[in-house]
Amino acid sequence: MTTLRIATCQYEPRIGEVDHNRELAVAQLGKAAAAGAHLVVLPELGSSGYVFSSDAEVDATSETANGRFVDAVARVCREHAMHVVAGINERGDGCRYNSAVCIGPDGVMATYRKVQLFHDEQKWFAPGDGLVVVDLPWGRLGMLICFDLWFPEIARGMALAGAEVIAVPTNWVSSFKPTVYDERGFCQGNYVAMATAAQNGVVMACADRVGLERGSQFLGASIIVGADGWPVAGPAGHDNEELLVADIDLASVAAARQRTPTNHLVESRRPAAYNAVVVGSHTGSSR
Ligand code: ACM
Repeated sequence: MTTLRIATCQYEPRIGEVDHNRELAVAQLGKAAAAGAHLVVLPELGSSGYVFSSDAEVDATSETANGRFVDAVARVCREHAMHVVAGINERGDGCRYNSAVCIGPDGVMATYRKVQLFHDEQKWFAPGDGLVVVDLPWGRLGMLICFDLWFPEIARGMALAGAEVIAVPTNWVSSFKPTVYDERGFCQGNYVAMATAAQNGVVMACADRVGLERGSQFLGASIIVGADGWPVAGPAGHDNEELLVADIDLASVAAARQRTPTNHLVESRRPAAYNAVVVGSHTGSSR
């Protein structure tokens, strides 16, 4: 297969309501399956909600990566022969992780644990300490979660490891942002995803949530970005449920990486220069 149909599901999970959230995710996946998607991305922490009020609440809403939420998703994957990346509150060994699980027709294939935890997440979750890529029938997939996007080394690492598509479960929030949307209705996450795609020659599929949860406003604006850095679907609306679907010719990844006949986004890198000690200052009296 060279054409991959990607879908992102934007909707509103509810804090603490794990049964409801599981049923909601299955219903959303049904819509993506009806649209013929091969790969579907669900939002960050879609199993539990995001704005926790206590350690006990985080604990009570956590599940292992083969718990009931993932199990229900796996059933949909089996029925429709598709792959899903779902954000879950993962119960670990004496801790929890903010995780993205890649699930296929035969069950869990890989789990990525968010490396760059945002604000209060640091109270509730342990950070992951590594990157993950996984081989699917059509090619290689990377996963990262929301705030990870603001640390370019993460997507770069996945691109260097051969990822062609990066799935991004996200919960973009309005807090700590003086400007939430620009005049086009894009949020900053949209531009960061576009820059990530353009810099690495990867397809970015970002599934955000919507709604107001305990005073935190989520931004919607889910987006699918082509390997050349331009949106191919979205941004979605800011406060509505919305399914984005895009057909991606995977040959576009190799084409985007070869920026000119003599410039390649991966092969033309010069890491020895980037890692050199910064010498000289261009401020002060020497001017
Ligand atoms: C975030 O990382 N969910 C803002």
